[in-house]
Amino acid sequence: MKDKINIAVLGLGTVGTGVVNLLKDNAVELSRRSGHDICITHVGTRRQRDDIDPAIKQSDDLMAIAADDDVDIVIEVIGGKTVAKDVIIHAIKHKKHVVTANKALLAEHGNEIFGLAEGHGVQVRYEAAVAGGIPIIKIIREALAANKVDWVAGIINGTGNFILTEMQQKNRRFGDVLKEAQALGYAEADPTFDVEGIDAAHKLSLLASIAFGIPLQFNKVYCEGITKINLQDVVYAKELGYTIKHLGFAFRREHGFELRVHPTLIPNSTLLANVNGVKNAVMVDAHPLGQSLYYGDGAGAGATASAVMADVMDLIYVINANTPSDVPHLAFVPEELSDTRILSSDEMTCGYYLRLTVKDELGVLADTTRILSENGINIDAIMQRDAHKSGLVPVIILTLPVLESQMNKAIKEIEALGAVTEPVVRIRLESLE
Ligand code: HSE
Repeated sequence: MKDKINIAVLGLGTVGTGVVNLLKDNAVELSRRSGHDICITHVGTRRQRDDIDPAIKQSDDLMAIAADDDVDIVIEVIGGKTVAKDVIIHAIKHKKHVVTANKALLAEHGNEIFGLAEGHGVQVRYEAAVAGGIPIIKIIREALAANKVDWVAGIINGTGNFILTEMQQKNRRFGDVLKEAQALGYAEADPTFDVEGIDAAHKLSLLASIAFGIPLQFNKVYCEGITKINLQDVVYAKELGYTIKHLGFAFRREHGFELRVHPTLIPNSTLLANVNGVKNAVMVDAHPLGQSLYYGDGAGAGATASAVMADVMDLIYVINANTPSDVPHLAFVPEELSDTRILSSDEMTCGYYLRLTVKDELGVLADTTRILSENGINIDAIMQRDAHKSGLVPVIILTLPVLESQMNKAIKEIEALGAVTEPVVRIRLESLE
């Protein structure tokens, strides 16, 4: 057994600095748990930092660090999909275990990276890639290993949740809240990844793979962001007993899996509706456990470093046991990953919130409900508000779950009515039962 485990931290941004600080703060505890002194021997950084312990070598030659014989575990927290990919592949080829927080890279190239790691007898760990400090990868992959997962629903982008919460609770403007999230270190380098749902879709594809035992298929995730959410809809939803959250869903259906990220009305009474600010939460519905919910900080230096170091600790146990691998990267043995279809958006099933803007004319509601009924759509609630000064009336309709293709057809027919003056606003709705 080695006395010392040597670690290289590639990237000294928010997360990399968090890892360095965590090791400084908790060195004794980590050593007591692992039975080793855990030392950062190298950091990969473009600019020399004078706040780093002089005993740690600083270099911008990431490839040399990843191949260094002294290094046991490489932590990649550079981000991006180019240099990060090259350096991870280089580390794997030099038989180093890797820890990464890089959800974009894994969602898009994870099948290749995990395959390569398996071929070289090393592990790539990625707890920090999904929901920051919440150990959701370990929970689904290991703690729930005896279950068959039916669905996963998660608030998995802290920035998006922070923005929606501030808009809902304080009537703040979208742009101002986004700037604050960036200053707090929550937002992605490109914040469109947060607000357009791409970051959540990256994370969802990882969750779906380990929940269902399917290869990573980021390009098949239906993805809609929060930029079009209107305060008026937030208020109407609340009146009807719902909260709008930006959620990622992975559902097991009869004919395939549904993978989707979009703003969603969920009942105020559900626990997920009460997850506010930058917090993340993931709910898993599995047999025989039933529903379980995991909550915590999804972003920030401390939360992410906590997840990164938990992976390092696991890898130290792998090194101690002198075994090439332990848990399969995607929770199921690679040859058992299934090619079950991912359903197209037309084949998805969910409830809907519809907001129509109509002229105050005789029969417009009757025409609307007739169209919904002709398309097999069951109305759950309907609310008509007072006319605006313009004489136009907002009508809000909630429906029971329906196939998206049926809803698309009905909306087209409703928009063709002479009394309907604007495109129908639609937001998906889930009861989470
Ligand atoms: N931008 C991400 C978020 C950071 O806001 O959740 C953690 O992945």
